[in-house]
Amino acid sequence: MVLNQLGIGIAITGSGSATPEVTLDNRQLSQMVETSDEWITTRTGIRERHLSDTEGSLKAIATKAAERALAMAGIAPKDLDLIVLATSTPDDLFGSASQIQASLGASQAVAFDLTAACSGFVFGLVTASQFIRTGVYQNVLLIGADVLSRWVDWSDRSTCVLFGDGAGAVILQAQEQDNLLGFELRSDGNQNSCLQLEYKAQKQEIVKGVVVGQGTYRPIAMNGKEVYRFAVQKVPEVIEKALFRSNITAEEVDWLLLHQANQRILDAVAQRLSISGEKVLSNLAHYGNTSAASIPLALDEAVREGKIQPGEVIAAAGFGAGLTWGSAIFRWGK
Ligand code: ACO
Repeated sequence: MVLNQLGIGIAITGSGSATPEVTLDNRQLSQMVETSDEWITTRTGIRERHLSDTEGSLKAIATKAAERALAMAGIAPKDLDLIVLATSTPDDLFGSASQIQASLGASQAVAFDLTAACSGFVFGLVTASQFIRTGVYQNVLLIGADVLSRWVDWSDRSTCVLFGDGAGAVILQAQEQDNLLGFELRSDGNQNSCLQLEYKAQKQEIVKGVVVGQGTYRPIAMNGKEVYRFAVQKVPEVIEKALFRSNITAEEVDWLLLHQANQRILDAVAQRLSISGEKVLSNLAHYGNTSAASIPLALDEAVREGKIQPGEVIAAAGFGAGLTWGSAIFRWGK
């Protein structure tokens, strides 16, 4: 695969993240449904999650994350050519990216939403990079943000313990050296029923003989065991493929940055790839599964903690509803 046909490469020059202030810990959850801190911690590694209240919006946390990423990259909102918002939970079903564009004051940028559930950030990274590689755009803001708490059934203990809200963002810029080394994206709609946030229509006869559907969405429904099996099998495969395309071996990976769904999945994938535990980035104890936000949120924390250094190789992988999964291998910084 020739990635850099026009001699234009990608640099990831800034990151930012934001989460709502309100937190819900496992002890509080065990007052709501029949569960325990011990069950949640041993099965998932999650201890608490941040939740958006009714005043909060996807736009608010996404804008905050974006502003932080812009500040780190040292560019102004008006320098942005493109904004891609990876989300499954927009404030507006017509899309929320343009509202974020307006709140940032990114007057020159075109903005759109992209939906690929928990794979959204990786899919967004690859999508955004195409516009840079073709020479069309130079400065791109990619946001992964989700407020899944809006669609959780808080009486379903098998799902409500897993999810949290958050936003993460990165700035992608054109440069000569290509730091997006390779990628692989996959989907399989045959397994769609494993994990859904499905439209639920109620019939409404608007005029005799014309019945339309009106309604809302059903809460998140998941076959946890199937998704777990899928993740542990498919994620190592897709990372191996992306590493192969990048001409990088697993030993050369500095950081494994997986969608933060479950610590057991992170550990199993690392073990399959023979990547040691110290190289696995994990912050899910404090945020739960924040869907499209989880990868940039963990990335931003690791960058700000000084763990990730410029030039280091990161193997990122997302997986989730669709089903979708994908991996991108990149070097941090210019
Ligand atoms: N507290 C206590 N018991 C529970 C809870 C809970 N919160 N939830 C389920 N149980 C019970 C079940 O009822 C079951 O009881 P039973 O044996 O009497 O029937 C028992 O615990 C075991 O349930 P399992 O579902 O088999 O538990 P498992 O070990 O598989 O863990 C989990 C469940 C954590 C959901 C796991 O399957 C998982 O992490 N799956 C992957 C989820 C994921 O990664 N999603 C990512 C994509 S998200 C996206 O795209 C939006």
